[in-house]
Amino acid sequence: MTDKKITIKDGQSDNEIDLPVIDSILGPNVVDMRSLEKNLGYLSHDPGFMSTSSCESKITFIDGNEGKLWYRGYPIEELAENSSFLETAYLLLYGNLPKINDLKSFSRDICNSYDVDNSIKNIIEVFDIDSHPMAIMTACLTYLSAKYHSDLDIKNKTYRYNSTINLIASVPIMAAWILNFIHKKEFENPNKNLSIAENFISMSFPNISDDQKKLSSKAMDIIFLLHADHEQNASTSTVRLSGSSETSPYAAIAAGISTLWGPTHGGANEAVINMLEEIKNSDKDVEHYINMAKDKENPFRLMGFGHRIYKNYDPRAKIIQKIAHEYLKKLDEQNPNKPLFDIAMKLEKYALEDDYFVSRKLYPNVDFYSGIVLKAIGIPQSMYTVIFALARTVGWAAHWNEMIEDTNFKIGRPRQLYTGKSKTSYKKIEDR
Ligand code: SDX
Repeated sequence: MTDKKITIKDGQSDNEIDLPVIDSILGPNVVDMRSLEKNLGYLSHDPGFMSTSSCESKITFIDGNEGKLWYRGYPIEELAENSSFLETAYLLLYGNLPKINDLKSFSRDICNSYDVDNSIKNIIEVFDIDSHPMAIMTACLTYLSAKYHSDLDIKNKTYRYNSTINLIASVPIMAAWILNFIHKKEFENPNKNLSIAENFISMSFPNISDDQKKLSSKAMDIIFLLHADHEQNASTSTVRLSGSSETSPYAAIAAGISTLWGPTHGGANEAVINMLEEIKNSDKDVEHYINMAKDKENPFRLMGFGHRIYKNYDPRAKIIQKIAHEYLKKLDEQNPNKPLFDIAMKLEKYALEDDYFVSRKLYPNVDFYSGIVLKAIGIPQSMYTVIFALARTVGWAAHWNEMIEDTNFKIGRPRQLYTGKSKTSYKKIEDR
């Protein structure tokens, strides 16, 4: 903490107080508002937390204006180029790139946790075949929160390590079983000799060629890596707030999955393909939809474009864009998805050239391209956000651990601006 401060003067009473400024290593410094109510009688007000720092974290740094995304200081571009999802998971959780033996034991612990309880298959089969997979995944996590409730001991480091490993290993297995289920196939068994991405592809598409498995696993591993964390987004903030009550990490992550499901957050990748399908099947052209997106009176939004933080390019989008374009190049003219991807490329062109999008810096985001790659791999749209949740379980777990290990750890409890009724006396129904 430095001795930097800002002084606030109350125009009504001429009282003034000093609020400490805390230097961040990167990004804006913060004003410590904790004494504002006690010393000046006010609350700070910031609906949507657009300019509120909710916690101190060392995990991920985003610079939206510069289009920077760093995991523990490592630029996402370098990790995507050189690392793997598993190694990046270790980095996010423990703060440093693993030495070879660290990675080996971390990998062994993860693979040994692929033995997910078979009762999960019964939980999945309770659902209708067309139930949304995010609802099924939430139910699976809730089942695990019940199964492991008696072990709950969040202040115990070993409990935190074991539940973190179990979560990171179990979610991909449950995701593959959900995919088997919606494909009306047998539940496939995991293979402990495979990485998370290889195992997910192998369980989800057991009959594709080895070459196809290799290509899809590589794309999947990068997609998992790119989606692993993203600072204090809506779902991570949910996991932190939920976990701050000292509830089960399985229950806190179930809450995160529910938040990620929304179409303006993790549900956008599914919404992108649904939008492309709608345009493909419509008698209107791409320009009609672009004009709808630009029309203030029209609630239509171009899914996969824009971002709360990135007012430059989403660095993840640039990386996935390359993979998407590689896949599209391989598509032959007969591929049923080609018309869809042609529409996507037209939308991309508009967004990069049309003043409405350029002036508002509404570039294609990570969900625009990941939706395209997942479609090309053959993942059903309804599973896209489950894939996002699978990857983000690493970030959620990293933030959950960081929060509990914080010496200032306490339950989160935001305040409010009350504009409701003043005190009102009860009236009997006959007198109303
Ligand atoms: C993710 O937080 C995270 O980190 C999230 C995430 C992560 O990894 O966890 O990065 C993942 O959620 C990516 C975002 C995926 N969502 C979508 O692709 C849905 C479509 N995008 C929009 O819903 C929107 O861009 C948001 C929600 C992403 C951001 O909304 P903001 O920051 O509130 O943007 P805004 O409302 O301030 O927009 C500024 C202007 C407005 O127009 P004007 O009032 O200036 O005239 O841009 C317009 C908006 O109407 N605008 C859009 C638009 N997004 C914003 N216009 C058309 N299409 C869009 N997609």
